[in-house]
Amino acid sequence: MNIVIIGAGYVGLTTGACLADLGHGVTCVDLDAERIAQLVHGRMPIFEPGLAELVRMQAAAGHLHFASRPDTVVPLADVVFIAVGTPAREDGDTDLTHVEAAARDIALLLRSEALVVLKSTVPAGTARRIRQLIARRRGNSDIAVASNPEFLREGSAIADFLGADRIVAGADDEASRALLEEVYEPLTGNGIPLVSTSTVNAELVKYAANAFLALKIGFINDVANLCERAGADVSDVARGIGLDKRIGTAFLMPGPGFGGSCFPKDTRSFVQTGRRLAARQHLIEELVDKNEARKRELARRIIREAGDKPAGKTVAVLGVAFKGNTDDVRESAALTIIPLLQRAGLKVRAHDPKARAAASEYLEDVEWRATAYQAAERADLTVVLTDWAEYRDLDLRRLSGAMAGQTLVDFRNVFEPSEVIRHGLRYVSLGRPPMAAANRSARAGLAERVGIAASPA
Ligand code: UDX
Repeated sequence: MNIVIIGAGYVGLTTGACLADLGHGVTCVDLDAERIAQLVHGRMPIFEPGLAELVRMQAAAGHLHFASRPDTVVPLADVVFIAVGTPAREDGDTDLTHVEAAARDIALLLRSEALVVLKSTVPAGTARRIRQLIARRRGNSDIAVASNPEFLREGSAIADFLGADRIVAGADDEASRALLEEVYEPLTGNGIPLVSTSTVNAELVKYAANAFLALKIGFINDVANLCERAGADVSDVARGIGLDKRIGTAFLMPGPGFGGSCFPKDTRSFVQTGRRLAARQHLIEELVDKNEARKRELARRIIREAGDKPAGKTVAVLGVAFKGNTDDVRESAALTIIPLLQRAGLKVRAHDPKARAAASEYLEDVEWRATAYQAAERADLTVVLTDWAEYRDLDLRRLSGAMAGQTLVDFRNVFEPSEVIRHGLRYVSLGRPPMAAANRSARAGLAERVGIAASPA
């Protein structure tokens, strides 16, 4: 099939490279000529594990092309995906300017048999609106618009695409449905479930899925707070509830509040849709507020850990990306927490394996260091804000030796409490009070004595 993708950003590029991998001929179009020139030379505008290799491979094989104008490529397309950004407006609603501009740009170029597919995350009813927009421009309503939301996570986007849990294909007529199903046949033929539905249902699936996952995170963050008061260990509680298949173990890691380009924006947009349609999403409204409040509350906690006179003390922040394995800092907890620490007079020294450049645009007066150990050098306390795998492997003896103070605040629970304590550090983590650490090491000791493996963290 001949496919054109409008928007060579994170979603567009991943979708393009993966659809090429499935055997389609794909052209990614982006009006940013500089970006296209980079891609033509095999340089990636974003960091996503495996994407550069896949793009280069598919381009070299002649399956993936790039263009900075839609004029010559759209008239040849069977399917045109719109994968441009849908930022949040001031009021939290979704800004559809780029989607509408893309639709306007391609409207007169489309063959009448072509199908337009919205990949961008858009509120309920957008596919129908875009269909009308294209119809007005063409003077007839021959072009159908489908909805095919993506569920890619940054850091594992390719695996999420090629090994998706499901494909949601929203179409309002049989011909569009058949075309969209043909695009994904290589995946559905291999057993990936297909949810074939209407456009408005598909649009709602995306928002409801993200809202529900965000709710799981908000819930476990609350449970972590409770565990701290009750002297319980949230890792065991999460595992205990998560093994119930109706709940599931994923997305039950407490943290400093969810961030990224999707959850914060999509939950707000979901709230706005609920308000607009007089079906308020009270749970999600509360979640949005609590998630922001959590970032501020954890900043206060760090300040408290810095002692009675925090001013002038140095805090080493490990990780500014909104999660591990990405250079993205959008809505990252670090962007809220670091300025609050600075306002309290703390000096911030930071490390991040990938996100320093992006974070530098938002943060001032941060001393950046090339390694976590260098950041911790003579620091009064060290705070982990991102779950980078390399932090899990830090040599705690070396870290504690480098620090001037001895407090390690871990807002991602990357360390095993007993290990941290063994290295003479005072350990503050989420939902795992020191007593739980003691219990855990006692349990490990007992398990060792009776010759069985202790339960994992
Ligand atoms: C998310 C959705 O997972 C994906 O399906 C959608 O297409 C885009 O939004 P992404 O933003 O890449 O993906 O990140 P994700 O891995 O979902 O994490 C989102 C945020 O929640 C991060 O800040 C992460 O640290 C946090 N999180 C996630 C937790 O705090 N605890 C968890 O258990 C899981």
